[in-house]
Amino acid sequence: MANGRYALITGSSRGIGRGIALALADDHVKVAIHYYQNEAAAKETLAQVRERGSDGVLVRADVKDPAQITDMFGTVKREFGKLDIFVSNARPEASEFFQPPLDITLKQWDTAFDSQAKAFLVGVREAIPLMGDGGRIFAITYAEGSRTGGLQPWVGMGSAKAALESLVRYFAVAVAKRGITVNAISPGWTEDSVLNTLPEQVQTLIRNWHAGGWTPMRRLGTPADVGNVVALFCSDKARWITGQVIYADGGASLMNPEVPPEIQIG
Ligand SMILES: NC(=O)c1ccc[n+]([C@@H]2O[C@H](COP(=O)([O-])OP(=O)(O)OC[C@H]3O[C@@H](n4cnc5c(N)ncnc54)[C@H](OP(=O)(O)O)[C@@H]3O)[C@@H](O)[C@H]2O)c1
Repeated sequence: MANGRYALITGSSRGIGRGIALALADDHVKVAIHYYQNEAAAKETLAQVRERGSDGVLVRADVKDPAQITDMFGTVKREFGKLDIFVSNARPEASEFFQPPLDITLKQWDTAFDSQAKAFLVGVREAIPLMGDGGRIFAITYAEGSRTGGLQPWVGMGSAKAALESLVRYFAVAVAKRGITVNAISPGWTEDSVLNTLPEQVQTLIRNWHAGGWTPMRRLGTPADVGNVVALFCSDKARWITGQVIYADGGASLMNPEVPPEIQIG
């Protein structure tokens, strides 16, 4: 492919990953669209990337399997020759890990950790040799799940995301001398993502809660909102920010969970 910047985004067949792919395509970045089971959705993302005047390739891997991650980076190296941006975004379906602490199986626990912390460990170590100075690495996290305990069946993913955020800090120091930044982006609840697979009643409760004030901007996020934040951090002007967890949530993380929202919002 022609010169320019190149990105690999895991889980970019749909949801937030697709939003990131399209935002980077708007900035003329060529994108490796990664998928696991939805090849048709990945092709649709690639078509939308091309509509934006950029280009890319499809790559497939189960991010729970380190050997498949290594193979995926082999394909990226063959196709692109280098990598400027790596976004670790993929996350298995909730049914594969969603169990409270007293019930979660070790397989479910491993699914969470293998797909997040271990996949990031392996992915970053594969990405670094392909990156020139000034590369950009992102982990997509859910920081509320890393620091709270209320949503009990989230224990596996919440713990795995906490480990992922910790890895972000260690890698940020490890590659800082090359001007490569490593950050975690933490979206709030986002439309056109896993949300839309939940029962309609649950979706309505979540939308109303946020539109009613828990998100001060009074709406849920969109994949484009999150994609734009990643694109912003890919700018050279963001080169001095590394090792951080960035909340991209319309202010939801600013609310105090101990005080009813009716009292907090004006
Ligand atoms: N949605 C939210 O409200 C929200 C909020 C905060 C953080 N996040 C984080 O944002 C990220 C994306 O979430 P989302 O809701 O946009 O996801 P999503 O719509 O459920 O899409 C999941 C993506 O991950 C891929 N995937 C699933 N299992 C995989 C596996 N074993 N190996 C490789 N890829 C796999 C899927 O590929 P296929 O399509 O091929 O199956 C798909 O591209 C996640 O890390 C999530 O924790 C989401």
